[in-house]
Amino acid sequence: VEENLKNKLTYDRYLKVNELISLQKEESNPPHHDEMLFIIIHQVYELWFKQILHETNSVIKSLQSDQIFKVIKALDRIIKIQAVLLKQLDVLETLSPVEFAGFRDHLRPASGFQSHQFRLFEYICGTRDKMYLKFYDHDQKAHKKLQDALATKSLYDEFLTYLSRNGFQIPKEVIERDHSINYEYNEDVKNVILSIYNSHEKEATLYYLLEKLIEFDENLQLWRYRHVKMVERTIGKKMGTGGSEGAQYLRSTLNKSFFPELWECRTEIGTY
Ligand code: HEM
Repeated sequence: VEENLKNKLTYDRYLKVNELISLQKEESNPPHHDEMLFIIIHQVYELWFKQILHETNSVIKSLQSDQIFKVIKALDRIIKIQAVLLKQLDVLETLSPVEFAGFRDHLRPASGFQSHQFRLFEYICGTRDKMYLKFYDHDQKAHKKLQDALATKSLYDEFLTYLSRNGFQIPKEVIERDHSINYEYNEDVKNVILSIYNSHEKEATLYYLLEKLIEFDENLQLWRYRHVKMVERTIGKKMGTGGSEGAQYLRSTLNKSFFPELWECRTEIGTY
């Protein structure tokens, strides 16, 4: 510790701490005390989104190369990060409606709705609504990332392709579908997933992987629910800063699911 660190790698230099802590700039003037928390929490979310995207990309690569242990490991990490993302909303809920009203007008028209990393995450995993693209006309880099994601198979498409390559009867029209659009529920896919659940001793690894996938999907739905409750608690039925109907719009997203057959098959598990 006493060593001369002048030209050496230090904690601050490695992590760019000075740059990092200079990135919080309030819009309110004079700065409202609570705007700092609002900025930091969103920045922390974006950092975790970056890490989640890093992991989802590795899940896709591992699926393509049949490395299922790696897939499970990465999904496990994402699931743990999601638990942090969910818990973090507790901190933001210390921001009362009155405090938020003290600086909210300065944020317009910015909104979490425009988070390109969140949208990219949805696109990469499989919820693909092209309608969102138009919100990135101002940011060509983000627009391109989103378009590139639509031009490649989603995580779920890759998973189904993996199953098909490994002897499961996934219909040809599912494997060869136009993956730039939203995935649609398929009865034959449900039957394949059901067959894995019903032979869980023989297919133990795949069974475990399916359980990781559904936990991942459920966690995002739980986050959506916590987010909308927090929104209702903080701004009631006010319109969003991004211009949507606010809580009403957010409620319409609650049932979005990456892996519909994983949910659907459960009604039949154990009936034969
Ligand atoms: C007081 C805190 C918050 C309020 C009142 C709030 C409010 C809203 C509202 C009203 C929307 C709908 C779009 C609009 O018209 O603006 C929205 C969307 C969104 N917010 Fe928040 N938000 C808050 C915190 C956060 C945080 C911390 C995140 C973390 C990144 C976040 C991420 C998102 C995302 C990703 C969407 C888009 C959801 C979708 O389209 O499915 N929000 N938010």
